[in-house]
Amino acid sequence: SEVTKDVAARVVLPDWSGKSQVGRIALLIAMEEEAAPMIEVLQLTRREANFCGAPTVVHEGEYKGAYVAVVNPGRDKTGVNLIGTDAAALTTFLAARELEPDLLINAGTCGGFKRTGGSIGDVFCVSSFRHHDRRIAIPGYDEFGVACRQALPTPNLVETLGLKTGPCTTGNSLDFVREDDERMHASAAVAKDMEGASIAWAAHIAGDIPLIGIKVVTDIVDGDKPTHEEFLHNLQAAAASLQSHVPKVIDFVANKHITDL
Ligand code: ADE
Repeated sequence: SEVTKDVAARVVLPDWSGKSQVGRIALLIAMEEEAAPMIEVLQLTRREANFCGAPTVVHEGEYKGAYVAVVNPGRDKTGVNLIGTDAAALTTFLAARELEPDLLINAGTCGGFKRTGGSIGDVFCVSSFRHHDRRIAIPGYDEFGVACRQALPTPNLVETLGLKTGPCTTGNSLDFVREDDERMHASAAVAKDMEGASIAWAAHIAGDIPLIGIKVVTDIVDGDKPTHEEFLHNLQAAAASLQSHVPKVIDFVANKHITDL
């Protein structure tokens, strides 16, 4: 619709002036299954973090001369990972306050789109974050709902590692309804996740901390397989892909200036 197109066009550009060298990096990862291989390859150790009583799990260490932390929102009482936007925003804000990172990296899985050229296993460094399931048809609130924010531009990283790029769209459901799809289509999204846009908001309110998103495709949103089956089938392969790509991302960004990425 016209409203969707109009709202999708406005992007908030955070103010990164005054940001400097990347000495401290916090990786925000929603599922422990995604985080575990990375913690191992980066040889990080668990810290008994007390993030104001939140169930946040932090593994940290020194890697290639930088401080690196893998931050996970932890588990629900029922034992499942705290996926979705609530825990993502809270965890990001707490990590920003407690760890004082120069750079946030949201790494994880996503749905990809056939219609924007995506396939299983693709690795994206996303260009922007927005919500597709916050529909508020009131002037001003429509734009607030979509909340489109740019990722830190990283043209050299994208080029050097040969990553794909494009918009990331966030919602609190693994599936989608027709209205979501209209919005995802209008934004030309390449990645559908359940955290990105909320992490971007929290990074903004914590002081415009630069954020990049590295997303591996586990399922095709506009494909013909049931998403939950395709996701579970490809989760391990995606975690392995993150394990090989994320250290390369850290190698590239560590100790560089924010504007040279
Ligand atoms: N994470 C992996 N696949 C996803 C999908 N299709 N939607 C939301 N989050 C995802």
